[in-house]
Amino acid sequence: MTDLVILTGAGISAESGLATFRGEGGLWEDVDLRALCSAEGLAAQPRKVHAFYDARRAQLREVAPNPAHAALAQLQERWTSEARGAFTLATMNGDDLHERAGSRDVRHLHGTLFAALCAECGNRVGWEGELPVREDCPACDAPALRPDVVLFGETPRHRHALEALATKADIFIAIGTSASVHPAARLLGLARANGAVTIEVNPAPTGAADILHVLEGPASEEVPRLVRDLLAGAHAV
Ligand code: APR
Repeated sequence: MTDLVILTGAGISAESGLATFRGEGGLWEDVDLRALCSAEGLAAQPRKVHAFYDARRAQLREVAPNPAHAALAQLQERWTSEARGAFTLATMNGDDLHERAGSRDVRHLHGTLFAALCAECGNRVGWEGELPVREDCPACDAPALRPDVVLFGETPRHRHALEALATKADIFIAIGTSASVHPAARLLGLARANGAVTIEVNPAPTGAADILHVLEGPASEEVPRLVRDLLAGAHAV
């Protein structure tokens, strides 16, 4: 049995047309996200924060999954139906491109753009359009719906579960992430420290010391190739 853990970042959605955060054309170029997309920023200027996420949510309807998303959905289907081992897909992306490509049980470490969260009762409700400030929660009626994203200063989701999975992974694959924020950077190190084969897919390799195999190229080319290799038994431990 070979347990797979896959972590994706903004880079896997770049070829679908969604901006990454860092690097050329990244979202960080125009906006100081650390200030805006923080718990303090939401409290101080809610309209600006809601508008930032409204714009990103609207963009989701203009883009589609690319071959990398599709290849990961195929890998999950084959890995699980052939009982090859555990399969975990975690993403730091708020988009729904993995789900639209057919991936199931995707763990969104940084929340999702396609839902709203009640700051009062914790209820989560799917959300498509603009999310007004002080929108009433359908469960508790409090005017407390906010974007269902993890803001700077808030705790990433599924953190402990993913750290446990990373320590047990036989193969850990990081796709399209600069590994510049935790827990992403930490998961790679945990996996490597516990003997996993670590693979990175990135046209601009991060140079992380814990990477065994670097596939230096765009996800839409490298991920389908990697999936073919994995299904053929390559990198098996
Ligand atoms: N294929 C694969 N990787 C790519 C591609 C591509 N076509 N294009 C760019 N990349 C790589 C870049 O080289 C970079 O290393 O994707 C990475 C994107 O890095 P970031 O923009 O830092 O995105 P990410 O690592 O997901 O950021 C993590 O930081 O700002 C917070 O919450 C935000 O979830 C985000 C987190």
